[in-house]
Amino acid sequence: MICNWQTLYSRLEREGQTHLIRHLETLSGTEKETFLSALAGIDFSYLKRGETSFQNRVYEISPIDIFTAEKADARRTELDAAGLDAVRSGKVAAVLLCGGQGTRLGFDHPKGMYDIGLTRPLPIFGFHFACLCETARRAGAWFPVFVMTSRAGDAQVREFLASRRYFGYDSRYVRTYVQDMAPATDFDGRLLLSGKTSLAMSPNGNGGWFSSLVLSGLLSGAQYDGVEWFNVVSIDNVLQKTADPSFIGATLLSGADCGAKVIRKASPDERIGLICRNEGHPAVIEYYELDRLLKESAVCTDGIEYGVILNYLFRRERMERTPEGELPVHRVRKKIPYYCDGRTVFPEQENGYKYEMLATDLVERMDSCLPYEVRRAEEFAPVKNRHGVDSVDSAREMLSAAGYVL
Ligand code: UTP
Repeated sequence: MICNWQTLYSRLEREGQTHLIRHLETLSGTEKETFLSALAGIDFSYLKRGETSFQNRVYEISPIDIFTAEKADARRTELDAAGLDAVRSGKVAAVLLCGGQGTRLGFDHPKGMYDIGLTRPLPIFGFHFACLCETARRAGAWFPVFVMTSRAGDAQVREFLASRRYFGYDSRYVRTYVQDMAPATDFDGRLLLSGKTSLAMSPNGNGGWFSSLVLSGLLSGAQYDGVEWFNVVSIDNVLQKTADPSFIGATLLSGADCGAKVIRKASPDERIGLICRNEGHPAVIEYYELDRLLKESAVCTDGIEYGVILNYLFRRERMERTPEGELPVHRVRKKIPYYCDGRTVFPEQENGYKYEMLATDLVERMDSCLPYEVRRAEEFAPVKNRHGVDSVDSAREMLSAAGYVL
């Protein structure tokens, strides 16, 4: 123990984190054990990736060919048939990304449980399961649905889906798994505590969906051996088509390693990731990265007009050749509650960083990508805030315009 403690102390000293143990003497024996094992588990190399990932990134961006909505319309029957065939033969699984904390929405439960209805219950999960049921009905077969949850929200999601009887989907095909966490820091990279014996942790971003799925052990049995594609979707876009046969068909027929649903940007400064090529590779440049690059005149975005909506298809075999450690880690400014002097502080302003991997960065690791255009009015109503842009209000307006009775 002494030896372990000395090793741990030197490590904390080297990493500039000795502030964490200032209160060590106030802890009881068992509390000390708990705390020290939490400290021993910190992966400092992950945090380093947050500092260095973008330092030497090269930007040579150019437009990428888009599979336009008109093209998809013209080939609808063929695309649908190919997509439904893949679903029917067990090649496709859906992954619903529900591990986020939804801080902007300010809802105390996982976002999928948020009720967007006005005169009747319309929880966000219901929109996704309606699409999943419809594809299963057309294919004549149920297919696997993985729901990635956060540690804090997992039990609530499971209870909620069970209480709603999976919105009509066959529960034997639905599995939840919990995504990994990463420690949070202040703006100087100093780790924050969430209690006397625990570190402030947050989900490690939606880019960890595959590594967390592998870690969960769900893929290790033979049950999902036939799955070749994952349709990875954000939970908070209530208009998008999850497990869309046309999108699946178009991606599979194209031979690409991944497909990304894209929309034409409403304005150059719309806050969605830009799809393009970077040094010849398919890539997504996040909007906050783009703001900086444009300010520094480091890129020219002429002819690049489409952005992603977080609805992807990833080829399993290619994902298995993409170690999680290759992904960049983003430092995202957030309000992070922390423990100090015997109490929890809930900051009113952003006070530190969360460390997240993003699904958008997976696109650049793929050798090829089919950007598949969908129409904004038909597939893009994100619920990020209560009011204003990308909000409950704007999503309700779009749902009404699309014919939904709220
Ligand atoms: P956002 O980036 O909008 O994050 O997630 P969020 O947590 O929902 O909301 P804010 O930023 O705190 O307000 C886009 C999608 O990725 C999922 C979210 O659940 C949402 O479906 N996500 C995000 C995860 O699954 N895990 C994460 O760690 C982060």
